[in-house]
Amino acid sequence: MAPLQCCLFISHHRCDGPEREKGNIVDANIVLLPGDGIGPEIVAQAERVLQVVAEQHGHEFHLSSHPIGGCAIDEFGDPLPESTLKACRESDAVLLGAVGGPKWDDPHAKTRPEAGLLKIRKELGLFANLRPINPNPALLDSSPLKRHIIEGTDILFVRELTGGIYFGDSGVQEKDGEKTAFNTMVYSQSEVKRVVRVAAAAALKRRGKLTSVDKANVLEVSRLWRHTAEQVVKTEFPTLEYEVVLVDAMAMHLISRPRDFDVVVTGNMFGDILTDEASMLPGSLGLLPSASVGESGPGLFEPIHGSAPDIAGKGIANPLATILATAMLLRHSLHLETEAAAIAAAVTRVLDAGHRTADIARSGETSVGTVAMGDLVLVELAS
Ligand code: IPM
Ligand code: MN
Repeated sequence: MAPLQCCLFISHHRCDGPEREKGNIVDANIVLLPGDGIGPEIVAQAERVLQVVAEQHGHEFHLSSHPIGGCAIDEFGDPLPESTLKACRESDAVLLGAVGGPKWDDPHAKTRPEAGLLKIRKELGLFANLRPINPNPALLDSSPLKRHIIEGTDILFVRELTGGIYFGDSGVQEKDGEKTAFNTMVYSQSEVKRVVRVAAAAALKRRGKLTSVDKANVLEVSRLWRHTAEQVVKTEFPTLEYEVVLVDAMAMHLISRPRDFDVVVTGNMFGDILTDEASMLPGSLGLLPSASVGESGPGLFEPIHGSAPDIAGKGIANPLATILATAMLLRHSLHLETEAAAIAAAVTRVLDAGHRTADIARSGETSVGTVAMGDLVLVELAS
């Protein structure tokens, strides 16, 4: 897949400048990274949504598509080619589909698609990953959990994204024919402070409760996390209701009393695992968007699900997580709250009307494909 420039709106403005606002009209460069598996199918639907929003509100969104992950390994031998990274750095926001697949799973391979995703997060300084979990009322019975447990759940996970065991020292050693592999979980105080501040600030704007999740009964790194987080909350956010929960207990509370949580902040790997678990509350991984943000620069927006190689190319993937990630992009990176809310409302109306992709259809219910689901959202957006 060659990098492809596709300015949606032919304009006399340069396509590579920073976001400019003229009144409420925004001129923005948005990089699309479709990636692997179902990535291109779902990003295509999000792209249509961006086009309609631009037309409706007079914005100029300059979209360009670049390779990442397995397809970039095939073409460039690198899951994050320099040209892709450069385009992202120069953009106002990045929308990513998914990376990975069995084709690139060889344990002896020089690199992996996932390395491209980790590198872009690190290079863009995207240390805070926001993953909202609010089950749509129309889907309460699509969840494997009971309605009375999930009803009223509204959690914002803030997962640390550029540190911890994902980025610590690692290696494989061999002695006397026996191999030993290791990964190291490392956090500095400043890494903990900055992500806790993002989470605490979000909690202040929500229900005022913050939960920090760690494994301080076992891990030294968690004891530093716990101490540092508490200092930040006590000194800078004294009005918050604050609690700490061990990660194993959190795994249990999340499915027994999810309503009790407002903002949850945790490290990279705990956040990865807990948010996949939490995705069962709204019924499907296919519904959950995420936003990765740093101190400055473009944010990266993506569904939390993976590339689903088993259904890639079948036209049945759920595009709603990516469409909702587009809403987060408009809200967080372009400050277009009205447009973001309109997309979320359109998705809600589509679900309220009973339309389902295969992943959220209950047995006996008919389902629609990826493009048809995109069509339904566009119709609602236009109404
Ligand atoms: C996620 C994914 C990634 C992660 C993988 C694909 C590297 O599972 O965004 O949650 O572990 O961070
Ligand atoms: Mn994950």
